[in-house]
Amino acid sequence: MTASVKSAVFPVAGFGTRVLPATKSIPKEMLPVVDRPLIHYAVTDAVEAGVERIVLVTGRNKGALEDYFDIAYELDRSLEMRGKEEARAAIRAFLLRPGRVLYVRQMEPLGLGHAVWCARHAVADGPFLVVSPDDLIVGETSSARQLIEAHARTGGAVVAAMDVPRAEVGRYGVIDTDSPDGALVPIRGLIEKPAPEAAPSTLAVIAHYLLPPDVFAILEEQQAGAGGEIQLTDAIAALIGRTPVHGLRFSGRRLDCGTTLGWLEANIAMALQHDEYRAAVLGFLKQSEESGAKRAPPV
Ligand code: G1P
Repeated sequence: MTASVKSAVFPVAGFGTRVLPATKSIPKEMLPVVDRPLIHYAVTDAVEAGVERIVLVTGRNKGALEDYFDIAYELDRSLEMRGKEEARAAIRAFLLRPGRVLYVRQMEPLGLGHAVWCARHAVADGPFLVVSPDDLIVGETSSARQLIEAHARTGGAVVAAMDVPRAEVGRYGVIDTDSPDGALVPIRGLIEKPAPEAAPSTLAVIAHYLLPPDVFAILEEQQAGAGGEIQLTDAIAALIGRTPVHGLRFSGRRLDCGTTLGWLEANIAMALQHDEYRAAVLGFLKQSEESGAKRAPPV
């Protein structure tokens, strides 16, 4: 019998420096992909996977995120007056019952591990999800569901994992394992952002995790690691030997919206999935390519 997963933690305090200037005055997690912000996708997946408590670890200048989970009275009234009932209903449908969304401030940008530790009093007993909204994973089954299902089999900690080119391992936490193949691999070590030649494999951690509450006690004591930050990867590595720790090669596509190029790609990929936009976007891309050579460079 495995404990149910009641909480999901969303670290959303970062500055989004790889997407500037878009993120100068709006949170990175409010960047839209097609018609909704990144946070919408992440929270919807957790809610649909049965998670009750949504914990946002925010920082200064992140008020737009809180507003997104609140009633927008003027907007609602305006839509009502103009008879736009469909849009009105869609916006209301996203609202969660009062009290389900909790906000915790990460007062200083000390790393992902520190952000998760900041949520310790807001997380319900038992295992919990951690999802970085800029790692958008899309597919038939959400990553939240896949992690919960994997955890039901293994217990302990499960981290989303994906094979990447060796030249790119320095952007990720990297998994050391005895059994490199298969969907669910036992982890014997984890290294945050190794040099390509020092990486134990090319199996990278994607920032969607299912973690046992024991991780909080580890984070409490933890020193800064790679990049001078308190790394979640190091805390998960410290769980090895005490509790099972697995990597899950999830099914679905990961869209890295933490960089400008990745975010652009995500918009195109998601628009092409969309019945309403697919044909028009394909046509537009083709036309743009044909006329591209003649175009003046962007200012
Ligand atoms: C974080 C994690 C890293 C993981 C990556 C995935 O790094 O620390 O282990 O591989 O997310 O996107 P960040 O991208 O925040 O530097």
